[in-house]
Amino acid sequence: MSVYLDHNATTPIDDRVLAAMFPYLKGSYGNPSSRHRLGRESQLALQRAREQVATLVGVTPAQVVFTSGGTEANNLALKGMMAAAGAGATVMVSAVEHPSVLQAAYALHSVGHPLAVVDVDENGVVDVAAFEQALIESRASLVSVMLANNETGAVQDIAPMSKMAKRCGAAMHTDAVQALGKIAVDFTSLGVAAMSLSAHKIYGPKGVGALIVEKGLALQPLLQGGGHEAGLRAGTENVAAIVGFGAAAELMLSGLERQSGHLRSLRQHAEKALLAIPEVTIFSQHVERLPNTIFFAVKGIEGATLLMNLDRDGIAVSSGSACGTSDGEPSHVLRAMGVDIELAHGAVRISFGQGNTIEEIDQLMISLQREIENLLKLNSAWA
Ligand SMILES: Cc1ncc(COP(=O)(O)O)c(C=O)c1O
Repeated sequence: MSVYLDHNATTPIDDRVLAAMFPYLKGSYGNPSSRHRLGRESQLALQRAREQVATLVGVTPAQVVFTSGGTEANNLALKGMMAAAGAGATVMVSAVEHPSVLQAAYALHSVGHPLAVVDVDENGVVDVAAFEQALIESRASLVSVMLANNETGAVQDIAPMSKMAKRCGAAMHTDAVQALGKIAVDFTSLGVAAMSLSAHKIYGPKGVGALIVEKGLALQPLLQGGGHEAGLRAGTENVAAIVGFGAAAELMLSGLERQSGHLRSLRQHAEKALLAIPEVTIFSQHVERLPNTIFFAVKGIEGATLLMNLDRDGIAVSSGSACGTSDGEPSHVLRAMGVDIELAHGAVRISFGQGNTIEEIDQLMISLQREIENLLKLNSAWA
């Protein structure tokens, strides 16, 4: 029996989401910009999805700009807002951002925008006082700090940071891709100017997301063309995927509270067993975290080896972020937290989802205990 515990990488599509999408892949294939009946049908479907996504995060439909996912939403926010801010404007990001924010910030830096990077503490949390100091010193025009980290699950205190940003005349963006569907995400109470979302983290399809923007935000599009998405993202809309995003958002609206409780109880169960294993470190354990995430390491064990052994046992976990695992480098998030490089190499992420059961967690723990014991034995045989 296989056990999927990598929901921060992606989630399985919900059957109800798939059913909602299906008509727009086959019968209702009209281009939403067409004036005929088929086109109008697609346009109506887009409008409904826009309302569903808007409702989930507490905004009006006009504030939703559909994109091809979280990566594009982050690029649009950073590059689009900086283009509007003008040449020489400074961008500031936290050290633990997703590569789609960090790389966009480096790209901006390479074309002449000064870049400031705010550090995090040993728990992966941005210190609000350090944030304020960096903001004042850098005179940033745009700041991007993620709502929840994809690796540790650590949740940042965005609202006071966005207030400070506003006071200093900077626009604030938050990447809420991992937070959505795991904790409540309300655009207005976060107080940000822009926020990125992605459908495939909430049991929707891959390749669709959104940038939520405050009214009147100065933003230049990355893609120019037919004026779609109020001129902010040209290209014929991926109607079926957007419909799927809308359906997933609506399901999340009613199911969030129940789901967070379920995820939290799975994590408690797993962490109790995990902490009984000697030499286990759980990162960001003592700060507010996403209810579904455990990022841990065992001293002396390679995360990639543990991952492969668990995979052989039919259990899917991740070593750090799915986007950064091919280069063999330890997680930049753990490095920013000051974690020892050897321990950082051991990092494994378990991320639960709505379909997981206590029995699956028990299966994971049996496997994990056995694999860790074997690897430690092997280590001492080599020593
Ligand atoms: C925090 C965060 N931001 C952005 C992304 C990118 O989203 P997408 O896969 O939709 O491009 C991810 C994906 O893992 C993520 O975890």
